[in-house]
Amino acid sequence: MPSLETNLGKLLKLKNPLILASGINDSNAASLIRGAKDGAGAVTSKSCNVKGRKGHDPPVLISNEHYILNAMGLPNPGAEKMRDELALAVKECAKLGVPVIASVFGESAEEFAEAAQIVAEAKPALIEADISCPNTMNKTFFSDKPESVSAVTRAMKNATKIPISVKLAPNVPSLSLLAKAAEDAGADCITAINTMPGMAIDPIARRPILTNKVGGMSGPALKPISLRCVYEISRAVKIPIIGTGGIITGSDAAEMLVAGASAVGVGSAFYYRRNSFKLIAEELEKVMKENGCSKISDLRFQE
Ligand code: DHB
Repeated sequence: MPSLETNLGKLLKLKNPLILASGINDSNAASLIRGAKDGAGAVTSKSCNVKGRKGHDPPVLISNEHYILNAMGLPNPGAEKMRDELALAVKECAKLGVPVIASVFGESAEEFAEAAQIVAEAKPALIEADISCPNTMNKTFFSDKPESVSAVTRAMKNATKIPISVKLAPNVPSLSLLAKAAEDAGADCITAINTMPGMAIDPIARRPILTNKVGGMSGPALKPISLRCVYEISRAVKIPIIGTGGIITGSDAAEMLVAGASAVGVGSAFYYRRNSFKLIAEELEKVMKENGCSKISDLRFQE
């Protein structure tokens, strides 16, 4: 059987390349531990900021077979409470050999750094900078200009020794320049991509369905966009990429690895299939076997 064991560059050793993506969890240890028990190679927490946020009023989510549109509004209990949950998750997930990734956001580079400093006390393996949430009226969106990407990355690198992954948005031109800005500012990894801004409208009520009016789109329809983004970024930087967006099956995961990702984020899949990690891992093994790949790094782009 092919081996799913792999590395995220020099940062993490993973028993498989499937990483629970940020955002589908509640902000607690139990949901991260559940991901680890279900077979994730690593797990990522819901993003937190220093002070916490209530999130948007419902409805916050609409879905169909093609996509999920959500505008949770980054609800979280604040970085100190999250640090305590993360500490428990780090301890329990370590028993299963599963690294924990903490995700943070802020309304300024300084706030990102402060949140990173607090969650770092829980000793996560990696800290993700969520600079690309589509649902907070641009207050926490820093992924459209090289200067703002650099500023957040630098501030976080100065705040902690734990490696940093910068999570980029799909809806920007020159994604490779933004990824390069993160790398040049010291980022250790790129997570690509966040959800794509979208809208759903009730034509009878003549109103948007989500209270926030717009939301972030994920699910199967996002995959061609995420593959293109990861391909572009992988040509521009040397740091590893966590490829995320529309990964539902083992073939999707294989495609993402071929596009240039070192590991694969899995999020919306849980809305479409029970036992996603187990099923995706089995299917990925099958795709590899059928194509003569014995290890994850064999899933390379053929020029
Ligand atoms: C949130 C929603 C998203 O779709 C996303 O990518 C990040 C954050 C949120 O509103 O909490």
